[in-house]
Amino acid sequence: MTRKTDVLIIGGGMAGLTCALEISPDYSVTVLSKTKLPAGSTFLAQGGLAAVTSGADSFESHLKDTQKSGAGMVDETVARQIISMGPELVDTLSKWGITLEGSNGDSGGMEGGHSFRRVLHYFDQTGRFISEHLAEECRSRSNITIIEGAFAINLITASREALPLLDMGSDKCLGAYVLLEGDVITFLAGETVIATGGAGKTYRYTSNQDSSTGDGIAMAYRAGLPVKNMEFYQFHPTCLYHPDKRNFLITEALRGEGAKLLNEAGKRFMKYYDPERMELAPRDVVARAIDSEMKRFGTDHMLLDATHLSKQFLEEHFPEVTSGVTSVGIEPWKDPIPVVPAAHYCVGGVSAATDGSTEMTGLRVIGEASCTGFHGANRLGSNSLLEAGVMGLLCARSFKGDLSRRVTDLEVRDWSYGRAEPLRENVLVDHSWASLRSVMWDYVGIVKTDKRLRRALKLLDVLADEVEEDYWTLLPTIEQLELRNLTTVARVIVRSALLRRESVGLHYLVDCPHKSHTRTDTVLRINP
Ligand code: FAD
Ligand code: SIN
Repeated sequence: MTRKTDVLIIGGGMAGLTCALEISPDYSVTVLSKTKLPAGSTFLAQGGLAAVTSGADSFESHLKDTQKSGAGMVDETVARQIISMGPELVDTLSKWGITLEGSNGDSGGMEGGHSFRRVLHYFDQTGRFISEHLAEECRSRSNITIIEGAFAINLITASREALPLLDMGSDKCLGAYVLLEGDVITFLAGETVIATGGAGKTYRYTSNQDSSTGDGIAMAYRAGLPVKNMEFYQFHPTCLYHPDKRNFLITEALRGEGAKLLNEAGKRFMKYYDPERMELAPRDVVARAIDSEMKRFGTDHMLLDATHLSKQFLEEHFPEVTSGVTSVGIEPWKDPIPVVPAAHYCVGGVSAATDGSTEMTGLRVIGEASCTGFHGANRLGSNSLLEAGVMGLLCARSFKGDLSRRVTDLEVRDWSYGRAEPLRENVLVDHSWASLRSVMWDYVGIVKTDKRLRRALKLLDVLADEVEEDYWTLLPTIEQLELRNLTTVARVIVRSALLRRESVGLHYLVDCPHKSHTRTDTVLRINP
């Protein structure tokens, strides 16, 4: 079965929905989301969106903070463009009913690495507020169709599916094969936009939702696109450490209000690692400090002490965190909160310009799935909602011409099931998921060594062979497709880490502890 649309957006988070809303109403837009909206990491965002809205702040200052956090690897042109579009994004969001605290130039929140209170937020429920409104606004537009529970499996490209359409040898994206209610549908589009978010589920512990399985990055990689700087996986320093509540973030904004990190001995240890910035040092520094203290004391968590704040203040300003931790019996105005770092944000991704354009005609990649160079080697907190929103706007505005004509006469073969059979032993998929995430956590974490990386790659290669065999012989299921994508992404992370012979930002390699003098990107692409 085939469906046609002018623009196909895969992903209904900040990037995908901002793009959908900004596209001219003359175009038909289909938004696919494998999960129900509001969705993705966007829904979980607590801290906020970094933007310069106060006269006392400046683009230069935001740029400097971004560059410092990015350890000198930020692409300055990209950063200038994204940062200077912050106020326009904030105004556009307001127009759609999303007015964040700090939007009108009054004081926003504070986070690590920022030298100004520029984090615009809605209490500590910023992502929920943004994504609910974006979804609602999209549903009210007659040119936008949202399809939930639709899982994009693979991109449809001219080189694989329609050779006569190859343009002077350069490949073209024609849409995607999508699993919907058990059938694989052929979606054809004039422009296809990947906005599928990150890949936190590559790791055993993550702040991400179960849906963050790197699908878009893996799809683009398989289609031959270059994937950049994947060794820079950001670990958020403070996720709740509790057996009954995993994946729960304790926002950095709490440290912005003076919460302190304590070790097992009750000592404020950041003074040994970054005496000037202490708890508000960039994330790579704080996460490594926690990792090092945990190893020193042989414990599996540290403590975040917010007991200087009153119950009333915490309930008023941090309702999400307060209700989350009290639900497991921790009273943050009385007790320090046990915390542990967890995989949080994919700094690398598919190489893309700020409007999402890639090497492939007809394919854009925006938001966390992309890598523009904005974050350098370590993302500054609250810069990703900014990037995702700005990319959404720029991508939407770049669509030109009669997109419908591009798809009217297009004929592409339907998905071939071959002799695939249903999966009869779920344990095959479950076991591989668990091993993959353990390998990544144990061997490819905050501090890396060559030996562990090489071992990880060997294990992942074996896993990849098994997963590939299942892909070709079994009927597609979401779990199995996600596992395949995670395996692809995990191998790219490890291979990128082995390629970077230095320690910089989020990539700390014991065997090469110094930063190199030249700024290089690691770029991987599949062999043709
Ligand atoms: P997402 O919001 O992750 O959306 C991805 C979408 O793609 C979803 O709809 C998903 O269902 C869909 N999808 C994925 N794969 C497929 C597929 N195969 N087929 C169809 N659909 C698919 N950043 C900040 O700037 N400030 C913050 O305060 C902040 N807090 C955060 C807190 C948490 C707990 C987390 C996890 C992240 C936080 N971040 C924050 C990061 C930020 O939220 C994300 O980088 C950003 O929201 C990503 O937006 P996105 O649109 O690229 O992807
Ligand atoms: C947080 O609230 O600490 C997360 C902010 C971010 O990831 O940008």
